[in-house]
Amino acid sequence: MRSLIDILELSAEEIADLVATAEDIIANPQKYAEACRGKKLATLFFEPSTRTRLSFEAAMYELGGQVLGFSEAASSSASKGESVSDTVKVVSCYADIIAMRHPKEGAPLVASMKADVPVINAGDGGHNHPTQTLADLLTIWREKGRFTDLTIGLCGDLKFGRTVHSLIAAMSRYANVKFVLVSPEELKLPSYVKKDILQKKGVPYAQTTDLESVMPELDVLYMTRVQRERFFNEDEYVRLKDSYILTPEKLKTAKDSLSILHPLPRVNEISVAIDDDPRACYFKQALNGKYMRMALILKLLGVEV
Ligand code: CP
Repeated sequence: MRSLIDILELSAEEIADLVATAEDIIANPQKYAEACRGKKLATLFFEPSTRTRLSFEAAMYELGGQVLGFSEAASSSASKGESVSDTVKVVSCYADIIAMRHPKEGAPLVASMKADVPVINAGDGGHNHPTQTLADLLTIWREKGRFTDLTIGLCGDLKFGRTVHSLIAAMSRYANVKFVLVSPEELKLPSYVKKDILQKKGVPYAQTTDLESVMPELDVLYMTRVQRERFFNEDEYVRLKDSYILTPEKLKTAKDSLSILHPLPRVNEISVAIDDDPRACYFKQALNGKYMRMALILKLLGVEV
């Protein structure tokens, strides 16, 4: 039995297989419509979500399976003090696979050690978000046709943005990938990500506070929201929240082939005036998340189509 807690648990070959399965699902949805008949997915969300929870649920329905779960800790027995371990032990009696989001880093890992069914990390605190990375990877693949030879700008809250940490880990495995890290000083990429991934693998990266100065060199621009829920100090959040707002004016020096990604939700980081720009990929990215979650559910349940 296999869970997915960290994106690096999937080899580059497995990522390629998941991308190929997702592409096949997009081309032939009917082929997969009964693949999970009789199977149940439990979505245990101890923290708010729109895309991740609903795309997991849509994914299971489109595979012919069923879904149960809760969307906030307050409506589960966690509110009475039940532990994550006991929760997943019990839910294992009712479901074949679990997708869990939790505000505490490491909670899905603990769950995977106690559950009797596969557990998928649907986001743990400021740590990891591997299935968002799968959505990001399919988007890069569909837009660029490759994972190699890319300069990727990551902009905004690189400290608390768990999607950034997982994406750096995933993309660092490919040849000739360079990262440009754009953030305020207070929201720089944690040193453990730089040390354990970028420096360890010898991946080139540059750090700046000035997005416009690096815009012309980017192939992918990954914008992120400043993560209000991870701040201890509201004044600090208010001071930093609008550090970067992408506008048509700021895109004037960007490549025509630039792909603009954002894991969403967006607050103020990308002007809605950019939504109709052909380089804007963030709504396609949200759709791609459903296809990659379908491919992942098939893989972890061992369903062959
Ligand atoms: N990208 C993402 O995780 O969105 P949600 O918080 O809406 O699930």
